[in-house]
Amino acid sequence: MGKSSKDKRDAYYRLAKEQNWRARSAFKLIQIDEQFDLFSYSDPSKCTRVVDLCAAPGSWSQVLSRVLIKGESFGRRAWVERMAKLKTQTPRSGDSSPSEADLNDGVRSLDLDDTKSTLKPRENVKIVAIDLQPMAPLEGIVQLKADITHPTTVPLLLKAIDPDFDQHNETHRIDLVISDGAPDVTGLHDLDIYVQSQLLYSALVLAMKVLRPGGKFVAKIFRGRDVDLIFAQLRLVFERVHVAKPRSSRASSIEAFVVCEGYKPIKDWTPEIGSALQIPVTTERTTKGGQQSYDSDKQSRHLREDGVVEIHFEDEETDPKRWIAPFLACGDLSAWDADATYKLPEGHTSLPPVQPPTAPPYKEAIERRRAEGGAYGKTKDPLRVVIKP
Ligand SMILES: C[S@@+](CC[C@H](N)C(=O)[O-])C[C@H]1O[C@@H](n2cnc3c(N)ncnc32)[C@H](O)[C@@H]1O
Repeated sequence: MGKSSKDKRDAYYRLAKEQNWRARSAFKLIQIDEQFDLFSYSDPSKCTRVVDLCAAPGSWSQVLSRVLIKGESFGRRAWVERMAKLKTQTPRSGDSSPSEADLNDGVRSLDLDDTKSTLKPRENVKIVAIDLQPMAPLEGIVQLKADITHPTTVPLLLKAIDPDFDQHNETHRIDLVISDGAPDVTGLHDLDIYVQSQLLYSALVLAMKVLRPGGKFVAKIFRGRDVDLIFAQLRLVFERVHVAKPRSSRASSIEAFVVCEGYKPIKDWTPEIGSALQIPVTTERTTKGGQQSYDSDKQSRHLREDGVVEIHFEDEETDPKRWIAPFLACGDLSAWDADATYKLPEGHTSLPPVQPPTAPPYKEAIERRRAEGGAYGKTKDPLRVVIKP
Protein backbone atom coordinates (compact mmCIF):
# COMPACT_ATOMS: atom_id res chain seq x y z
CA MET A 1 0.00 0.00 0.00
CA GLY A 2 1.44 3.40 -1.03
CA LYS A 3 1.74 6.30 1.40
CA SER A 4 -0.95 8.29 -0.45
CA SER A 5 -3.35 5.40 -0.26
CA LYS A 6 -2.86 5.23 3.51
CA ASP A 7 -3.36 9.02 3.68
CA LYS A 8 -6.71 8.50 1.94
CA ARG A 9 -7.86 5.58 4.01
CA ASP A 10 -6.77 6.97 7.37
CA ALA A 11 -7.51 10.65 7.89
CA TYR A 12 -5.86 10.64 11.33
CA TYR A 13 -2.63 9.16 9.93
CA ARG A 14 -2.48 12.04 7.41
CA LEU A 15 -3.47 14.70 9.96
CA ALA A 16 -0.87 13.45 12.44
CA LYS A 17 1.88 14.05 9.88
CA GLU A 18 0.45 17.43 8.90
CA GLN A 19 0.18 18.57 12.52
CA ASN A 20 3.57 17.20 13.52
CA TRP A 21 2.43 14.39 15.83
CA ARG A 22 4.64 11.31 16.05
CA ALA A 23 1.60 9.00 15.86
CA ARG A 24 -2.12 9.25 15.12
CA SER A 25 -2.75 8.16 18.76
CA ALA A 26 -2.30 11.82 19.75
CA PHE A 27 -5.89 12.43 18.59
CA LYS A 28 -7.20 9.71 20.88
CA LEU A 29 -5.79 11.44 23.95
CA ILE A 30 -7.02 14.84 22.75
CA GLN A 31 -10.54 13.49 22.21
CA ILE A 32 -10.61 11.72 25.59
CA ASP A 33 -9.51 14.98 27.21
CA GLU A 34 -12.31 16.87 25.42
CA GLN A 35 -14.83 14.57 27.04
CA PHE A 36 -13.32 14.17 30.52
CA ASP A 37 -11.22 17.29 31.09
CA LEU A 38 -8.22 15.07 31.85
CA PHE A 39 -5.87 18.03 32.04
CA SER A 40 -8.08 20.01 34.47
CA TYR A 41 -8.30 23.24 32.47
CA SER A 42 -10.67 24.66 35.09
CA ASP A 43 -7.96 24.32 37.78
CA PRO A 44 -4.60 23.78 35.98
CA SER A 45 -2.73 23.30 39.28
CA LYS A 46 -4.58 19.96 39.63
CA CYS A 47 -2.77 18.50 36.61
CA THR A 48 0.95 19.21 36.47
CA ARG A 49 2.50 15.81 37.30
CA VAL A 50 1.90 13.04 34.79
CA VAL A 51 3.28 9.57 34.02
CA ASP A 52 2.96 8.25 30.45
CA LEU A 53 3.33 4.45 30.36
CA CYS A 54 4.11 2.61 27.10
CA ALA A 55 4.85 5.96 25.54
CA ALA A 56 6.88 5.30 22.36
CA PRO A 57 7.06 6.75 19.77
CA GLY A 58 5.78 9.59 21.94
CA SER A 59 2.66 11.27 20.57
CA TRP A 60 0.86 11.20 23.95
CA SER A 61 3.99 12.66 25.54
CA GLN A 62 3.94 15.35 22.84
CA VAL A 63 0.34 16.20 23.78
CA LEU A 64 1.35 16.39 27.46
CA SER A 65 4.34 18.55 26.68
CA ARG A 66 2.39 20.93 24.44
CA VAL A 67 -0.60 21.25 26.79
CA LEU A 68 1.20 21.37 30.15
CA ILE A 69 4.64 22.81 29.37
CA LYS A 70 3.84 25.08 26.42
CA GLY A 71 0.22 25.76 27.40
CA GLU A 72 -1.37 25.08 24.01
CA SER A 73 -4.93 23.84 23.50
CA PHE A 74 -6.19 21.46 20.83
CA GLY A 75 -9.31 20.13 19.20
CA ARG A 76 -12.71 21.45 20.18
CA ARG A 77 -11.26 23.34 23.15
CA ALA A 78 -8.91 25.32 20.91
CA TRP A 79 -11.76 26.03 18.50
CA VAL A 80 -14.05 27.25 21.30
CA GLU A 81 -11.28 29.49 22.68
CA ARG A 82 -10.60 30.99 19.23
CA MET A 83 -14.32 31.55 18.59
CA ALA A 84 -14.65 33.35 21.92
CA LYS A 85 -11.64 35.51 21.06
CA LEU A 86 -12.98 36.30 17.60
CA LYS A 87 -16.39 37.24 18.94
CA THR A 88 -14.71 40.01 20.90
CA GLN A 89 -12.58 41.07 17.88
CA THR A 90 -14.90 40.79 14.86
CA PRO A 91 -16.41 44.20 13.99
CA ARG A 92 -20.19 44.43 14.31
CA SER A 93 -22.52 46.47 12.18
CA GLY A 94 -25.00 48.10 14.57
CA ASP A 95 -26.17 45.62 17.14
CA SER A 96 -25.91 42.48 15.00
CA SER A 97 -23.50 39.75 16.10
CA PRO A 98 -20.99 38.37 13.56
CA SER A 99 -22.46 35.48 11.57
CA GLU A 100 -21.23 31.95 12.15
CA ALA A 101 -19.74 31.87 8.64
CA ASP A 102 -17.75 35.07 9.42
CA LEU A 103 -16.47 33.50 12.62
CA ASN A 104 -15.51 30.23 10.90
CA ASP A 105 -13.60 32.19 8.24
CA GLY A 106 -11.92 34.15 11.01
CA VAL A 107 -10.89 31.02 12.91
CA ARG A 108 -9.31 29.58 9.75
CA SER A 109 -7.45 32.77 9.00
CA LEU A 110 -5.95 33.16 12.49
CA ASP A 111 -2.22 32.68 12.16
CA LEU A 112 -0.19 30.61 14.57
CA ASP A 113 1.51 33.62 16.13
CA ASP A 114 -1.89 34.87 17.14
CA THR A 115 -2.68 31.64 18.99
CA LYS A 116 0.65 31.90 20.84
CA SER A 117 -0.67 34.93 22.66
CA THR A 118 -3.23 32.66 24.36
CA LEU A 119 -0.66 30.12 25.59
CA LYS A 120 -1.13 29.13 29.21
CA PRO A 121 1.99 27.24 30.38
CA ARG A 122 1.72 25.59 33.79
CA GLU A 123 4.18 25.78 36.64
CA ASN A 124 6.22 22.93 38.16
CA VAL A 125 5.36 20.44 35.45
CA LYS A 126 6.81 16.93 35.77
CA ILE A 127 6.31 14.34 33.05
CA VAL A 128 7.86 10.87 33.06
CA ALA A 129 7.53 8.57 30.04
CA ILE A 130 8.35 4.82 29.99
CA ASP A 131 8.56 2.31 27.16
CA LEU A 132 10.33 -0.91 26.26
CA GLN A 133 11.46 0.79 23.08
CA PRO A 134 13.82 3.74 22.96
CA MET A 135 12.09 7.03 22.17
CA ALA A 136 13.51 10.14 20.50
CA PRO A 137 13.96 12.87 23.13
CA LEU A 138 11.19 15.38 23.89
CA GLU A 139 11.93 18.61 25.68
CA GLY A 140 10.97 18.61 29.34
CA ILE A 141 10.15 14.90 29.51
CA VAL A 142 12.11 12.37 31.57
CA GLN A 143 12.30 9.14 29.59
CA LEU A 144 12.92 5.61 30.85
CA LYS A 145 13.50 2.52 28.75
CA ALA A 146 11.92 -0.18 30.89
CA ASP A 147 9.32 -2.95 31.06
CA ILE A 148 6.22 -1.89 32.99
CA THR A 149 5.45 -5.51 33.91
CA HIS A 150 8.80 -5.94 35.69
CA PRO A 151 9.15 -5.22 39.45
CA THR A 152 12.53 -3.49 38.93
CA THR A 153 10.74 -0.73 37.01
CA VAL A 154 9.01 0.49 40.18
CA PRO A 155 12.10 2.00 41.88
CA LEU A 156 13.24 3.44 38.54
CA LEU A 157 9.91 5.20 38.11
CA LEU A 158 9.80 6.53 41.68
CA LYS A 159 13.36 7.86 41.34
CA ALA A 160 12.54 9.53 38.02
CA ILE A 161 9.51 11.24 39.58
CA ASP A 162 11.55 12.46 42.50
CA PRO A 163 14.98 11.23 43.69
CA ASP A 164 13.62 11.27 47.27
CA PHE A 165 10.14 9.99 46.40
CA ASP A 166 8.09 9.62 49.55
CA GLN A 167 4.65 8.10 49.03
CA HIS A 168 3.34 9.88 52.13
CA ASN A 169 4.33 13.26 50.73
CA GLU A 170 1.42 14.44 48.59
CA THR A 171 3.55 16.93 46.68
CA HIS A 172 5.58 14.00 45.32
CA ARG A 173 2.53 12.16 44.03
CA ILE A 174 1.16 12.17 40.51
CA ASP A 175 -2.06 13.74 39.18
CA LEU A 176 -2.57 11.60 36.11
CA VAL A 177 -1.25 8.24 34.86
CA ILE A 178 -1.92 7.34 31.22
CA SER A 179 -1.13 4.06 29.49
CA ASP A 180 -1.54 3.28 25.81
CA GLY A 181 0.25 -0.05 26.20
CA ALA A 182 -0.32 -2.66 23.57
CA PRO A 183 1.51 -5.92 22.90
CA ASP A 184 2.57 -6.87 19.39
CA VAL A 185 -0.78 -8.23 18.30
CA THR A 186 -0.68 -11.89 17.17
CA GLY A 187 -4.18 -12.04 15.71
CA LEU A 188 -5.09 -14.76 18.23
CA HIS A 189 -7.79 -12.76 20.02
CA ASP A 190 -7.76 -14.58 23.35
CA LEU A 191 -3.97 -14.39 23.62
CA ASP A 192 -3.89 -10.70 22.62
CA ILE A 193 -6.60 -9.86 25.16
CA TYR A 194 -4.76 -11.79 27.88
CA VAL A 195 -1.41 -10.04 27.24
CA GLN A 196 -3.19 -6.68 27.02
CA SER A 197 -4.90 -7.28 30.38
CA GLN A 198 -1.48 -8.04 31.93
CA LEU A 199 -0.23 -4.68 30.67
CA LEU A 200 -3.34 -3.01 32.10
CA TYR A 201 -2.81 -4.64 35.52
CA SER A 202 0.84 -3.57 35.59
CA ALA A 203 -0.16 -0.03 34.62
CA LEU A 204 -2.79 -0.04 37.37
CA VAL A 205 -0.30 -1.28 39.97
CA LEU A 206 2.18 1.45 39.01
CA ALA A 207 -0.66 4.01 39.07
CA MET A 208 -1.73 2.96 42.57
CA LYS A 209 1.86 3.39 43.77
CA VAL A 210 2.18 6.97 42.55
CA LEU A 211 -1.26 8.61 42.20
CA ARG A 212 -2.44 11.24 44.65
CA PRO A 213 -5.89 10.81 46.20
CA GLY A 214 -8.38 12.09 43.64
CA GLY A 215 -5.93 11.41 40.77
CA LYS A 216 -6.88 10.01 37.36
CA PHE A 217 -5.90 6.91 35.41
CA VAL A 218 -6.49 6.28 31.69
CA ALA A 219 -5.53 3.02 30.02
CA LYS A 220 -6.10 1.16 26.81
CA ILE A 221 -8.22 -2.00 27.08
CA PHE A 222 -9.32 -4.61 24.59
CA ARG A 223 -13.04 -5.17 25.05
CA GLY A 224 -12.92 -8.94 25.52
CA ARG A 225 -15.25 -11.42 27.16
CA ASP A 226 -14.57 -10.81 30.87
CA VAL A 227 -13.71 -7.14 30.70
CA ASP A 228 -16.43 -6.37 33.27
CA LEU A 229 -14.25 -8.08 35.91
CA ILE A 230 -11.56 -5.48 35.20
CA PHE A 231 -14.12 -2.66 35.52
CA ALA A 232 -15.27 -4.09 38.86
CA GLN A 233 -11.66 -4.11 40.16
CA LEU A 234 -11.08 -0.56 38.97
CA ARG A 235 -14.25 0.57 40.68
CA LEU A 236 -12.84 -0.56 44.03
CA VAL A 237 -10.18 2.14 43.90
CA PHE A 238 -11.73 4.89 41.76
CA GLU A 239 -14.91 6.88 42.34
CA ARG A 240 -15.87 6.93 38.67
CA VAL A 241 -15.00 4.48 35.88
CA HIS A 242 -16.01 4.99 32.24
CA VAL A 243 -15.11 3.29 29.00
CA ALA A 244 -14.25 5.78 26.26
CA LYS A 245 -14.06 5.16 22.53
CA PRO A 246 -12.48 8.17 20.80
CA ARG A 247 -13.65 8.86 17.26
CA SER A 248 -10.03 8.50 16.07
CA SER A 249 -10.03 4.85 17.25
CA ARG A 250 -11.45 2.65 14.50
CA ALA A 251 -14.93 1.33 15.28
CA SER A 252 -13.81 -2.03 13.90
CA SER A 253 -11.07 -2.29 16.56
CA ILE A 254 -11.76 -3.89 19.97
CA GLU A 255 -9.63 -1.14 21.51
CA ALA A 256 -11.17 1.31 23.99
CA PHE A 257 -9.91 3.24 27.02
CA VAL A 258 -10.87 3.07 30.69
CA VAL A 259 -11.05 6.52 32.20
CA CYS A 260 -10.91 6.31 35.99
CA GLU A 261 -11.37 9.43 38.12
CA GLY A 262 -11.15 10.12 41.85
CA TYR A 263 -8.45 7.71 43.08
CA LYS A 264 -9.24 6.33 46.56
CA PRO A 265 -6.01 4.85 48.01
CA ILE A 266 -6.48 1.92 50.36
CA LYS A 267 -4.95 2.62 53.74
CA ASP A 268 -1.72 0.74 54.51
CA TRP A 269 -1.88 -1.28 51.29
CA THR A 270 -0.07 -1.01 48.00
CA PRO A 271 -0.03 -3.72 45.37
CA GLU A 272 3.13 -5.31 43.98
CA ILE A 273 3.96 -6.03 40.35
CA GLY A 274 4.19 -9.73 39.67
CA SER A 275 1.73 -10.88 42.32
CA ALA A 276 -1.99 -11.37 41.71
CA LEU A 277 -3.95 -8.15 42.12
CA GLN A 278 -6.14 -8.59 45.21
CA ILE A 279 -7.55 -5.20 46.10
CA PRO A 280 -8.74 -5.49 49.71
CA VAL A 281 -11.99 -4.01 50.98
CA THR A 282 -11.54 -2.29 54.25
CA THR A 283 -14.36 -3.64 56.40
CA GLU A 284 -14.96 -6.72 58.52
CA ARG A 285 -15.11 -10.22 57.14
CA THR A 286 -18.34 -12.11 57.83
CA THR A 287 -19.68 -15.55 56.98
CA LYS A 288 -22.98 -15.76 55.11
CA GLY A 289 -24.52 -19.12 54.18
CA GLY A 290 -21.17 -20.87 54.54
CA GLN A 291 -19.44 -18.35 52.21
CA GLN A 292 -16.90 -15.80 53.34
CA SER A 293 -18.00 -12.23 52.59
CA TYR A 294 -16.30 -8.86 52.87
CA ASP A 295 -18.81 -6.01 53.10
CA SER A 296 -18.33 -2.31 52.66
CA ASP A 297 -20.70 0.58 52.04
CA LYS A 298 -21.22 -0.01 48.37
CA GLN A 299 -19.76 -3.37 47.52
CA SER A 300 -19.46 -6.87 48.88
CA ARG A 301 -17.25 -9.79 47.89
CA HIS A 302 -17.90 -13.50 48.08
CA LEU A 303 -15.14 -16.05 47.96
CA ARG A 304 -16.59 -19.01 46.06
CA GLU A 305 -15.51 -22.56 46.80
CA ASP A 306 -13.61 -22.69 43.51
CA GLY A 307 -11.50 -19.74 44.71
CA VAL A 308 -13.06 -17.09 42.45
CA VAL A 309 -13.90 -13.80 44.15
CA GLU A 310 -17.24 -12.33 43.04
CA ILE A 311 -17.69 -8.62 43.50
CA HIS A 312 -21.22 -7.30 44.02
CA PHE A 313 -22.24 -3.65 43.93
CA GLU A 314 -25.19 -2.17 45.77
CA ASP A 315 -26.58 -0.48 42.67
CA GLU A 316 -26.56 -3.54 40.49
CA GLU A 317 -30.02 -4.13 39.14
CA THR A 318 -30.18 -7.15 36.93
CA ASP A 319 -27.16 -9.43 37.13
CA PRO A 320 -25.33 -8.76 40.41
CA LYS A 321 -22.12 -10.55 39.32
CA ARG A 322 -21.43 -8.07 36.55
CA TRP A 323 -20.84 -4.37 36.49
CA ILE A 324 -20.75 -2.69 33.13
CA ALA A 325 -18.91 0.63 33.04
CA PRO A 326 -20.80 3.41 31.24
CA PHE A 327 -19.60 3.69 27.63
CA LEU A 328 -18.93 7.07 26.03
CA ALA A 329 -17.98 7.89 22.46
CA CYS A 330 -15.59 10.89 22.45
CA GLY A 331 -14.96 13.41 19.72
CA ASP A 332 -17.87 15.29 18.18
CA LEU A 333 -19.63 14.23 15.01
CA SER A 334 -17.82 16.87 12.98
CA ALA A 335 -14.52 15.09 13.74
CA TRP A 336 -12.95 12.87 11.06
CA ASP A 337 -14.29 9.35 10.88
CA ALA A 338 -11.45 6.84 11.47
CA ASP A 339 -13.20 4.19 9.36
CA ALA A 340 -13.95 6.38 6.34
CA THR A 341 -11.92 6.90 3.17
CA TYR A 342 -11.57 10.56 2.16
CA LYS A 343 -10.73 12.12 -1.18
CA LEU A 344 -7.32 13.80 -0.92
CA PRO A 345 -7.13 17.53 -1.64
CA GLU A 346 -5.94 18.61 -5.11
CA GLY A 347 -2.11 18.55 -5.30
CA HIS A 348 -1.78 16.58 -2.05
CA THR A 349 1.78 15.49 -1.24
CA SER A 350 2.21 12.61 1.14
CA LEU A 351 4.46 13.60 4.04
CA PRO A 352 7.01 11.26 5.63
CA PRO A 353 6.32 10.14 9.24
CA VAL A 354 7.26 12.77 11.84
CA GLN A 355 9.43 10.41 13.88
CA PRO A 356 10.20 6.95 12.55
CA PRO A 357 10.89 4.37 15.30
CA THR A 358 14.47 4.76 16.55
CA ALA A 359 15.07 1.02 17.04
CA PRO A 360 12.05 -0.98 15.92
CA PRO A 361 12.02 -4.69 16.82
CA TYR A 362 11.76 -5.58 13.11
CA LYS A 363 14.98 -3.67 12.26
CA GLU A 364 17.21 -6.71 12.55
CA ALA A 365 14.88 -8.81 10.37
CA ILE A 366 14.97 -6.17 7.61
CA GLU A 367 18.77 -5.93 7.83
CA ARG A 368 19.16 -9.72 7.60
CA ARG A 369 16.81 -9.90 4.67
CA ARG A 370 18.73 -7.17 2.84
CA ALA A 371 22.02 -8.93 3.60
CA GLU A 372 20.60 -12.04 1.99
CA GLY A 373 19.77 -10.09 -1.16
CA GLY A 374 16.00 -9.85 -0.59
CA ALA A 375 14.08 -6.61 -1.00
CA TYR A 376 11.68 -5.27 1.64
CA GLY A 377 8.54 -7.38 1.50
CA LYS A 378 10.05 -9.88 -1.01
CA THR A 379 12.86 -12.39 -0.92
CA LYS A 380 14.67 -13.45 -4.08
CA ASP A 381 15.02 -17.02 -2.97
CA PRO A 382 13.41 -17.70 0.41
CA LEU A 383 15.25 -21.02 0.74
CA ARG A 384 18.55 -19.16 0.79
CA VAL A 385 17.66 -17.10 3.89
CA VAL A 386 19.61 -18.57 6.75
CA ILE A 387 18.17 -17.67 10.15
CA LYS A 388 21.09 -17.62 12.55
CA PRO A 389 20.36 -18.36 16.20
C1 LIG B 1 0.40 1.87 20.73
S1 LIG B 1 2.05 2.09 21.22
C2 LIG B 1 1.96 3.53 22.21
C3 LIG B 1 1.80 4.78 21.41
C4 LIG B 1 2.04 6.02 22.22
N1 LIG B 1 1.00 6.24 23.20
C5 LIG B 1 2.12 7.26 21.37
O1 LIG B 1 1.22 8.05 21.45
O2 LIG B 1 3.10 7.41 20.63
C6 LIG B 1 2.23 0.83 22.40
C7 LIG B 1 3.58 0.83 23.09
O3 LIG B 1 3.50 -0.09 24.18
C8 LIG B 1 4.84 -0.48 24.43
N2 LIG B 1 4.88 -1.63 25.33
C9 LIG B 1 4.34 -2.86 25.12
N3 LIG B 1 4.61 -3.65 26.17
C10 LIG B 1 5.33 -2.91 27.07
C11 LIG B 1 5.90 -3.18 28.35
N4 LIG B 1 5.78 -4.39 28.91
N5 LIG B 1 6.57 -2.19 28.99
C12 LIG B 1 6.70 -0.97 28.41
N6 LIG B 1 6.18 -0.65 27.20
C13 LIG B 1 5.51 -1.61 26.53
C14 LIG B 1 5.35 -0.77 23.03
O4 LIG B 1 6.77 -0.77 23.01
C15 LIG B 1 4.72 0.36 22.23
O5 LIG B 1 5.65 1.41 22.05
